[in-house]
Amino acid sequence: TAFRIADLAARQDEAVRIAEKKAVDRQHAKGKLTARERIGLLLDPGSFVELDQFARHRCSEFGMAATRPYGDGVVTGHGTVDGRPVCVFSQDFTVFGGSMGEVSGEKVLKVMDLAMNLGCPVVGINDSGGARIQEGVVSLAYYAELGRRTAHASGVIPQISMIMGPCAGGAVYAPAITDFTVMVDGTSHMFVTGPDVVHAVTGERVTAQELGGAAVHSEVAGNAHHRAAGEHDAIAWVQTLLGYLPANNLDPAPEYADDTSPVLTPADLELDRLVPDAPNRTYDMTELIARLVDDGEFTEVHSAFAANMICAFGRVQGRTVGVVANQPRHQAGVLDIDASEKAARFVRFCDAFSIPLLTLADVPGYLPGTGQERGGIIRRGAKLIYAYSEATVPKVTVVVRKAYGGGYAVMGSKHLGADVTLAWPTAEIAVMGAEGAVEVLHRRKLAALPPERRAAARRRLTDEYRERHTGPYLAAERGYIDQVVTPSQTRLHVARALRTLRTKRQTLPARKHGNIPL
Ligand code: COA
Repeated sequence: TAFRIADLAARQDEAVRIAEKKAVDRQHAKGKLTARERIGLLLDPGSFVELDQFARHRCSEFGMAATRPYGDGVVTGHGTVDGRPVCVFSQDFTVFGGSMGEVSGEKVLKVMDLAMNLGCPVVGINDSGGARIQEGVVSLAYYAELGRRTAHASGVIPQISMIMGPCAGGAVYAPAITDFTVMVDGTSHMFVTGPDVVHAVTGERVTAQELGGAAVHSEVAGNAHHRAAGEHDAIAWVQTLLGYLPANNLDPAPEYADDTSPVLTPADLELDRLVPDAPNRTYDMTELIARLVDDGEFTEVHSAFAANMICAFGRVQGRTVGVVANQPRHQAGVLDIDASEKAARFVRFCDAFSIPLLTLADVPGYLPGTGQERGGIIRRGAKLIYAYSEATVPKVTVVVRKAYGGGYAVMGSKHLGADVTLAWPTAEIAVMGAEGAVEVLHRRKLAALPPERRAAARRRLTDEYRERHTGPYLAAERGYIDQVVTPSQTRLHVARALRTLRTKRQTLPARKHGNIPL
């Protein structure tokens, strides 16, 4: 027995200590942590239970039989984050470039199946040269299998991807299907075809960072929900995110003791001055979010992508809410393709995981232009209407200032199924802004006037229109707005609405699945 125990210890030593020693030098030289260090930082200390430590590849092509390291280039297992179970796989770039072959593929699928059976989130840490070239088509099969597992797990368990090194070719698609992706500045990249192929095919010279670095994906392409300055940052962001999320689609999100005051605070009173009197002056919507959520704490996803739309997790009276808000600070909070898709996917995530939605509307409408129309704003903008309409979670909407035209309808309006709709007295709910409306309604009348009288007439008609047609009261008259509230009272109203809606149950007709415009 003593011999066998010593043999086990030697194997464990080889699988972990000796491998790690080699990995530390190679990874740290590149400014990266090792696969095990990453898991160690993500999970609660001592909670990691490794699976398949002794798994080894079975490939004999290209002299592979001579090198059969334990683990096969990926560390898998489960542990806890803040005491809550999480499954994890972490690719080890120091073993065959973290490439995925048959055995490493089996390991990843096994831990994903475990996450599904346990009903816990899965975090995939990507740092890999892609499909293992020596193993050929087998590796491709596992990428497709991984894509299928990820798709089947979508909406059942939260799935988070961390891109901590290369992630290219077929390897990008499983992360793309996961709910949230975080990338690390400088040391990670993602693309379908790399710089060499781009150059060979198009003649264009581009670096890996320019093609698919964290900046590109978090600001332009929208494939990354967070751009981390370093690996520690990335891990901290994922831990914070997990704290807002339920373990699966049947469990509630973690709930904290409700220590928010049910009474008005001086901070609430500041809301009465948030919206500037001048219609062309702007304000920062995050100030409102901070005053509505517990302790002013919230975490944005996609903060640098489509900044005209804010998507964030926060808590109201200890319970997670998903906040969807126009940001008047950026492009006046206009709706465009990116903002619509960003918010639509966020709304669907929240709905899948029973997270109530709090919508804060200040939207001048849709962004005009050939770029948007040719880019497919019709089909892509429709996603947001679709997402809100099919969401059966509690939906509370506050119209803060502008809610014009299609923007009014789409930003969580009563007509899309909002349960509670509130408006501030500053709300302007109308088909369009007063200036635009007057141009359409009184075009002939204005043209007929002598030029010197036009400006004054236009001003009078605009004021008249604004007075009669753009406040919150016409919508309130019809019940589209349940209550017009004093801004400083908003937190209390929102908290009460969400508390009342805790028992909401709504089911839509059974069907195989809808056909959201993609
Ligand atoms: N299959 C097998 N081994 C791979 C691999 C893959 N897909 N990708 C990388 N490796 C190996 C390398 O051969 C190298 O092995 P070695 O240490 O024994 O020499 C090791 O991983 C490290 O790779 P290296 O190229 O030295 O690292 P790098 O940081 O300079 O470059 C990549 C990283 C990902 C850009 C580069 O390795 C690459 O282009 N790999 C191939 C990507 C690919 O075409 N994948 C298949 C399609 S999805």
